[in-house]
Amino acid sequence: MPTIFLLFLISGVFRYSSAEQGFCSAPSALNTESKSKPLYSKVYESTLSPLDLQNLPGFTRSVYKRDHALISPESHVYGPLPEWINTLGSYVISPEMGSHFVMYLAKLKENSRSGLPLHDVERFIFVLHGAVTVTGAHSVSHVLKVDSYAYFPPNFEHSIESDAPAIIVIFERRHAQLANHVPEPLVNSTDKQPLLETPGEVFELRKLLPSSLAYDFNIHIMDFQPGEFLNVKEVHYNQHGLLLLEGEGIYRLGGSWYPVQAGDVIWMAPFVPQWYAALGKTPTRYLLYKDVNRSPL
Ligand SMILES: *[C@@H]1O[C@H](CO)[C@@H](O)[C@H](O)[C@H]1NC(C)=O
Repeated sequence: MPTIFLLFLISGVFRYSSAEQGFCSAPSALNTESKSKPLYSKVYESTLSPLDLQNLPGFTRSVYKRDHALISPESHVYGPLPEWINTLGSYVISPEMGSHFVMYLAKLKENSRSGLPLHDVERFIFVLHGAVTVTGAHSVSHVLKVDSYAYFPPNFEHSIESDAPAIIVIFERRHAQLANHVPEPLVNSTDKQPLLETPGEVFELRKLLPSSLAYDFNIHIMDFQPGEFLNVKEVHYNQHGLLLLEGEGIYRLGGSWYPVQAGDVIWMAPFVPQWYAALGKTPTRYLLYKDVNRSPL
């Protein structure tokens, strides 16, 4: 009896430790993989055997339809940005598609400097690679590294500069003013933002801008573990610009289902049915523009 009990105990311990090992080994393999590469580098170094695909004549995963678009990295086209110095930009979403905002990627080279947005246009920037120095009124400067961001209210004098290569994603829209609610400039980083409640959903949510009425849009950072998906098959009046920062999965847009991966950009017009499932072996993180706090009328 004592021997059997001992065996039982040992096997219990063994099972416990092997389960423990199994549990630990998978995440640590992921960690070493992600540690060897800079955060978000998959956005500009795409992962789905890009060389093979690029060599297929005419191949692209990009799609452009009335109520949505998928703009995958092999179809990004860079050119000079108006008023910017030593910077190349690729507009991936613009009002010609039906959006009320622009979304573009900017590649800053050595000694680069931004131009100002148009009159009454607000700007949000998020750093994907390298670092940029943002300077606002009163010459206060901040160095923004990967995962940091800044918001500039309409008609707010500022510059974004870099003395080494850097890549940022930018959103701009004509600000929808609300009497007595004035947005403030801000700089911050994703990791400083608290996780928010997501009733009925499993993904993790952070908002990069305050939810107060002064702001007519927000930028969400959403994290999914592989296998997690949106519970609500969303249809809503808001529009979205999305950049997949990490991971891969399936995006449903209208009646179409798209395999997507880090680096992909998605435009979602108001009311396009939308749904995401994170698949593959690594977590998904995406960054999402959403208009908020204003009547659709
Ligand atoms: C960054 O955001 C956090 C959380 O919203 C806030 O507590 C903190 O004051 C912000 N930092 C700056 C420099 O604004």
